[in-house]
Amino acid sequence: MSIGFINGQFIEINQAVIPIEERGHQFGDGVYEFVKVYNSVPFLLEEHINRLEKSAAGIDIKLPYSLGEIKAIVIESIKKSGLKDAEVYFQATRGIAPRNHAFPDVSSSFTLTVKPSRKVPKQSYEEGIDTILLEDERWGRCHIKSLNLLPNILAKHQAAKGGNFEAILVKDGYVTEGTSSNVFVVKNGVLYTTPLTSNILAGITREAILKLAESANVVSIEKKFTPEFLSEADEAFISSTSVEILPIRAVNQQLIGNGKPGETTKTLHNLLCKLRDGSFASFE
Ligand SMILES: Cc1ncc(COP(=O)(O)O)c(C=O)c1O
Repeated sequence: MSIGFINGQFIEINQAVIPIEERGHQFGDGVYEFVKVYNSVPFLLEEHINRLEKSAAGIDIKLPYSLGEIKAIVIESIKKSGLKDAEVYFQATRGIAPRNHAFPDVSSSFTLTVKPSRKVPKQSYEEGIDTILLEDERWGRCHIKSLNLLPNILAKHQAAKGGNFEAILVKDGYVTEGTSSNVFVVKNGVLYTTPLTSNILAGITREAILKLAESANVVSIEKKFTPEFLSEADEAFISSTSVEILPIRAVNQQLIGNGKPGETTKTLHNLLCKLRDGSFASFE
């Protein structure tokens, strides 16, 4: 069953609990994480919790719990839900204060939901996804996983309206990332992805993929690349916690390579699945 948690209490997911002057609600003044649970085990949980701490520090929010406490809350919530395959979202907001842009020193809030995992259709992995290029209209601190997602939402919506799975964002002539994913390209057997700057989120899946590539002797280069470089790639894929690795079939209706998922993409996805399945024991 789906369950929620707010400031120390487990609740029903649809229970009304957010006070009207909660700054997360008023301003999107907070940060969040998303973890996927496979066979009752949250994948790469510590990495996600560490990123939450960095995001919170990036906007001067002091988390109401220690990282160990957050880990315990996540694990207890999953147990309580009884779900084997689940999605866990957790948010830390600046808390409740009379509405004012400048913020007083209030105690932060922590909320969490556990729900059944949504599945990406098998066909999307087998055939790849369609994408469009859009101008990256986001702010200058995209390394922070902020609750403020308006540009991401609007770009994703525009993509979806045209039957595309993802919008790939372009800033100053270079690909940054997807609205909710990182972007990889394979050219002549070499893996390319955008370097970590404040223009992109340091994806946990991105990091895992780079380590897996190294273990498989796939050379990877973190380097800025243009939409033209992407269009001329042999293979391309997006990565995220929710989709893992999803091959890109087309960008702006132009096929990538022969339009079929490439060998490097498939190899890396198999390795990621192995890491995921092998991680069961280490989180028990
Ligand atoms: C903007 C953005 N970039 C990249 C990612 C991928 O990050 P991760 O692999 O940690 O899920 C996400 C995930 O939601 C995202 O929102």
